Amino acid sequence: MNLLTEPQAVLGSPPIPPPDPGHRPVLLAETLAALAPRPGGCYLDGTFGGGGHSRAILAAAAPGGLVLALDADPEAIARAERTAADPTNAGRLRPVRANFADLAVVARREGMAPLDGVLLDLGLSSFQLDAAQRGFAFRFDGPLDMRFDPDRGRPAADLVNGLPPTELADLLFRYGEEPKARRIAQAIERERGRAPIVSTARLAEVVSRAVGGRRGRETHPATRTFQALRIATNDELGVLERALAGAVEVLAPGGRLAVIAFHSLEDRIVKRFVERESADCVCPPELPVCVCDHRPRLAKVTRRPLKATPEEVAANPRSRSAVLRVAERLGPAAEAPTDNGATGRGRGR
Ligand SMILES: C[S@@+](CC[C@H](N)C(=O)[O-])C[C@H]1O[C@@H](n2cnc3c(N)ncnc32)[C@H](O)[C@@H]1O
Repeated sequence: MNLLTEPQAVLGSPPIPPPDPGHRPVLLAETLAALAPRPGGCYLDGTFGGGGHSRAILAAAAPGGLVLALDADPEAIARAERTAADPTNAGRLRPVRANFADLAVVARREGMAPLDGVLLDLGLSSFQLDAAQRGFAFRFDGPLDMRFDPDRGRPAADLVNGLPPTELADLLFRYGEEPKARRIAQAIERERGRAPIVSTARLAEVVSRAVGGRRGRETHPATRTFQALRIATNDELGVLERALAGAVEVLAPGGRLAVIAFHSLEDRIVKRFVERESADCVCPPELPVCVCDHRPRLAKVTRRPLKATPEEVAANPRSRSAVLRVAERLGPAAEAPTDNGATGRGRGR
């Protein structure tokens, strides 16, 4: 299927196994069409979560296809292990608890490289959002944690209670695009002076009071603050950059990279990465001739990101902000120098 010309065309994609009740993988048909799993192929799902995408890839890659399933969250890996134990999967799902930043190392170590496809479905799962004790949600009261891997790094409470107010405001502005970042940071500073802010409910209340309640708003006033803290707590933008670089290393020629992003900060990173990796030249625009010797390693499959259909958004509101970008690994031929050398190539812009 040509995703470039038929972004919504998903008819003819392989049969999709039913998801767990209450858990809906986003852009599932589009992702399957993008990865086009084949029997016997090797795929890496860097974000197993509830396993909806992994199970669909396994089904489409039968017989013989393998899925290496990563997740930083031990609960997601426990779900993956249950799925792997299902005889219908016949040893074809390999769960590994790891940060997807290290996907190239893990894929090589597990003997799965080169890969026919890599999927990253970014952000948090509905399981994590619905678990009060993980501290991701303002609608429950729980500890202010927000780590995907609860055994590594520092909980969000450390940032909320430890950062100087100017740094906290910068963080909320940069990662949450929160226009009232300064006012929120000042309110947090006042409140934490009384007692450390260690629960989601208290933080949500402090933010709501600082920005003036939720009357007339579509989203909770603490939405951007929670997003910013989650991104910073898990270094989400940094690990995404490392994962993209690693994916290009371990994809086989013709292998596909599919990334589902949920906000503009992560989508911008994916877009720029694919732009750069698919360009013939990455010289600064002021140079009259190309001197960079850059070789494209990816070809864009989606020129514009794919979005959920209105039907999917109605069935699963979480899909509203999802955008899928797809690229294909070029083979050695595409990377080989041209006869007339670097200057013979176009500027690629
Ligand atoms: C949106 S969910 C994936 C849902 C999944 N595609 C499905 O169909 O159920 C994202 C998952 O990625 C995991 N995750 C987020 N960042 C990660 C990282 N840097 N390394 C590994 N796993 C990560 C989260 O723990 C979560 O389980």
